[in-house]
Amino acid sequence: MKAPGADEFVPDTPDLATLRTASCGCRGCDLYRHATQTVFGEGPADAAVVLVGEQPGDQEDQQGHPFVGPAGHLLDRALADAGLDRETLYLTNAVKHFKFVERGKRRIHKAPGRTEIVACSAWITAELALIRPELVVCLGAIAAQAVIDPAFKVSKQRGHVVSMPDYRAIATVHPSAVLRAPDRAEAYAAFVADLKKVRAEMSKRTTSG
Ligand code: URA
Ligand code: SF4
Repeated sequence: MKAPGADEFVPDTPDLATLRTASCGCRGCDLYRHATQTVFGEGPADAAVVLVGEQPGDQEDQQGHPFVGPAGHLLDRALADAGLDRETLYLTNAVKHFKFVERGKRRIHKAPGRTEIVACSAWITAELALIRPELVVCLGAIAAQAVIDPAFKVSKQRGHVVSMPDYRAIATVHPSAVLRAPDRAEAYAAFVADLKKVRAEMSKRTTSG
């Protein structure tokens, strides 16, 4: 059997809309079987900043858009508090299908495994190649490991700008981790502080250029 992977489903196209349409038919790993739909990235095709989450959650899976559930609401508030405009950002996920376990009527999020992250990486690679952002913001370990380095430790390296061959990257926690934190106010403040670094990094660029 062939190793799973999205590669064969990713078209060679300069057009993000074509890429998105193709992603709806991806069968690069088993997650498409139980999820409702592919949740592709959204935002301006020329965004200077791309935010990468983990995978769609229950709401995202049903609605077909990234970050529209509880984590998305927290993210919206944090972006606003950091002075970032969501409309100018491209938001996507490391894995494009919702992975879950059923508990009665509820679908409980299950973290994607290395196989699914690697299988799905062809999509995020293609998105980043077309958008060519200046800065990629990884929300949580799964995103940071998919985009920056499989050994990335968010606890040690959050908030540091890393130079990659085609863009700079910065990682912070996932908004869901803020929602689950024992001290939510403290976790939220630290999350906003990291997002303010994103803003500072971007304004450095615009004022110097
Ligand atoms: N969590 C994510 O990582 N991505 C989403 O789109 C929603 C929740
Ligand atoms: Fe394809 Fe990614 Fe969905 Fe797996 S999770 S089927 S690789 S889009």
